[in-house]
Amino acid sequence: MKKSFVDIVKRRVDLKFDAGHALGWLPGEGIVEIFLNAISFYFPSGEKFFIDSVSHYKHKIHDPVLKDQVHRFIYQEAMHTSVHNRCNKVLLEIYPNGTKLDRIGTFVLNKFRFFLPRSFQLAISCAIEHYTAILADSLFHYLDYIIERAQPEFTKLWAWHAVEETEHKAVCFDVYSHHVGRGFFAYLMRVIAMLLVTFLGTIVVATGVILIKRGRTVSPAPLSHSVEPAPNVKPNTVSLVKSLIPWRLWLDYFRPSFHPWDHDNSHYIELWKQRFPGFGIVSSLRVDEK
Ligand SMILES: [Fe+2]
Ligand SMILES: [Fe+2]
Repeated sequence: MKKSFVDIVKRRVDLKFDAGHALGWLPGEGIVEIFLNAISFYFPSGEKFFIDSVSHYKHKIHDPVLKDQVHRFIYQEAMHTSVHNRCNKVLLEIYPNGTKLDRIGTFVLNKFRFFLPRSFQLAISCAIEHYTAILADSLFHYLDYIIERAQPEFTKLWAWHAVEETEHKAVCFDVYSHHVGRGFFAYLMRVIAMLLVTFLGTIVVATGVILIKRGRTVSPAPLSHSVEPAPNVKPNTVSLVKSLIPWRLWLDYFRPSFHPWDHDNSHYIELWKQRFPGFGIVSSLRVDEK
């Protein structure tokens, strides 16, 4: 069975967000910015669900490598929640409806917790983690564009989150493969979970985008000439829609032999390290990593 082959690094991240940057932090890319803000509001409830669904299997994992990866996965997701909560606090000044998104996310995921067996909850986490891995991959296509234009704290947040989603993209899947299986019924369940996540996720995210946009307290200022997007590299609406669901990567999930690392994009981790050297690595964690 294939396993993750990149390090899942425990980083300590302490980003501060400036309320003055909450609107227009990605100049000229209003729809991309609103979409990312909406999913930022959904992350805390989603990440709690991923952690819970994997934690349920923690005591059954005897493979020391996978056990360690699960531990690091939980650390990374908990750190994402902590930093996104800080970011969301600032975003709420412009998008007060963000609290509704948190409630919607929690409501839907609590229904999953109540009505679905643990194995299906894990299959749902696998499907959402596939989406976050695809989204991370898409973001790296535009990393330099974003670094050049966006407010630095938001760039750091999204680039760091994307790199860690890449590092741990196979953890839920490997736990699922070990403890639910690779047979026909396990395959069927993960496919059904993916279809459910795609259907409900589209509705939930679209609702989130509409809600926060409608409730926005300040309108964005017109784009100044100095931030006019460069041609060819601009992540415009069409390319966003295309890159949000790169069909090849999405369809890949339906192969019975699929594994997240069939798509080896570890070079993006190296690219990120070059752009943000030493990010989140503090001496105490270096000791802990050994
Ligand atoms: Fe995350
Ligand atoms: Fe994740």
